[in-house]
Amino acid sequence: MEKKWWHSSVVYQVYPRSFQDSNGDGIGDLRGIIQRLDYLAELGIDVIWLSPVYQSPNDDNGYDISDYQAISPEFGTMEDMERLIEEARKRNIRMVMDLVVNHTSDEHPWFIEAQKGRDNAFRDFYIWRDPAEDGGLPNELLSVFSGPAWEFDENSGQYYLHLYSKKQPDLNWENPEVREQIWNMMNFWLEKGIGGFRMDVIDTIGKVPDELITTNGPKLHDYLQEMNQRTFGNYDVLTVGETWGATPEIAKLYSDPDREELSMVFQFEHIGLDQQPDKPKWDTKPLDFIELKAVFTKWQTELDGKGWNSLFWNNHDIPRIVSNWGDDSEEYRVVSAKMFATFLHLLKGTPYIYQGEEIGMINTPVSSIEEIDDIESKNMYHERIAQGCDPQAILASINKKGRDNSRRPMQWDATVHAGFTSGTPWLALNPLYREINVAADYLKEDSIFKHYQKLIQLRKEHELVVWGEYRELLPEDPQLYVYERSYNGETWLVVINFYGTTAVYKDPSRQADSIILSNYMNSGMELSNLMLRPYEAVVYQLS
Ligand code: GLC
Ligand code: CA
Repeated sequence: MEKKWWHSSVVYQVYPRSFQDSNGDGIGDLRGIIQRLDYLAELGIDVIWLSPVYQSPNDDNGYDISDYQAISPEFGTMEDMERLIEEARKRNIRMVMDLVVNHTSDEHPWFIEAQKGRDNAFRDFYIWRDPAEDGGLPNELLSVFSGPAWEFDENSGQYYLHLYSKKQPDLNWENPEVREQIWNMMNFWLEKGIGGFRMDVIDTIGKVPDELITTNGPKLHDYLQEMNQRTFGNYDVLTVGETWGATPEIAKLYSDPDREELSMVFQFEHIGLDQQPDKPKWDTKPLDFIELKAVFTKWQTELDGKGWNSLFWNNHDIPRIVSNWGDDSEEYRVVSAKMFATFLHLLKGTPYIYQGEEIGMINTPVSSIEEIDDIESKNMYHERIAQGCDPQAILASINKKGRDNSRRPMQWDATVHAGFTSGTPWLALNPLYREINVAADYLKEDSIFKHYQKLIQLRKEHELVVWGEYRELLPEDPQLYVYERSYNGETWLVVINFYGTTAVYKDPSRQADSIILSNYMNSGMELSNLMLRPYEAVVYQLS
């Protein structure tokens, strides 16, 4: 496979609303990100994926865009954006923009026009259907944010499709004019020198609503090939698609370099392993660790040489992993955060760090729906209340899976509002910010930040981390995840104790030469009888 810069990169996701406020209005902004670039450069990341900063009425916090070529005033100006690209570039960091083109905001001029009537020139930019024969919904498609995916438009007597909120009407990708407009917009950004695109719910652009097909529609890959040819194919950039329903077979369609589509996709199979099959994400079950390992191994082996993995535990839609599958108590937060980091960063693929992950930020449970901002959680709450569900049970689901968990402001230091803002934060901080923050973590001998720094360094210094072959050992072990990476005659062994109790690893056939990295002092060297402490994660060089 031809080597590209993004194969050996580490990406850091910034959720701008919650990263750093520079003017005291309680909302993070572009100038705030510029102030923190030195911090990110010190961490060692190569790329920033910036969640949307475009003009938006914020029904879904920027994922509902009313102008793709304007910066939302609360985040700054186009000049600020250009400065951010330039300042990042000076530090060898590239800016990857969020591309949200499955839908626009209902306040986008295209939709405002389209709503004017059936014969408007922009009508066909969106997906309209007549009512069913009984006058009801065109069909039973549901919105990801609860309720039907169809909204009635009084003016024209038709319904429009919205797979997300009513304020996020779906674009009609079948219309070549829609695609043309999107290519122009993408080229506008590419010409500004950005480092690529993260493509929001890109697997839905080929939908066939009349056949109830939403993801992986028949024309999806044609559109992506056309997109590649007309836009980023002429640039050396990173493109990553958000594809909730991808299997390894499907992921190869996107990321096999011969097909000229995307660099890689986010697949979510591991993320759903604490959910009941075929139920909404709110209906959880205990994580099956054997299954978790099998999923990672499947993706590592099946994409090998024919595609590329993106590696992540966290993003702005997913609760904090250290709280959900690790242990965020005072005793084990630090070691378990480092365990997850080690687990992921030694795998083959491009790792993504979500802001605050590098200092072990945790979930923020709430006791009332009033404390929640996220539209997905709020809609689900009201829907289930109407169905007669117990409010406490609903809140428990929100505390476990809700998106606000990862959207709380970044915890920089122990001063008021954690150094995030001098004003009133748009969303309350995690109450533990005085203990868990960048400044405090930094001073610690066992800093999580420094552990991430080392992992990133290892990737830079050892081709083995980027290109080495992956092999899992002990797939049936109920507590340990053990894998090897080998490259040019060198082999590293990664031994992970996933749980909060001690474990023993016995491997008389292998010999450790040295310890490359551990989340504890004095980790054992005798692989024939290795005692592992709670959440211990060690990387060995084998002899
Ligand atoms: C993606 C985004 C999410 C957003 C949704 C609709 O899943 O990551 O935050 O709500 O798409 O745009
Ligand atoms: Ca601000």
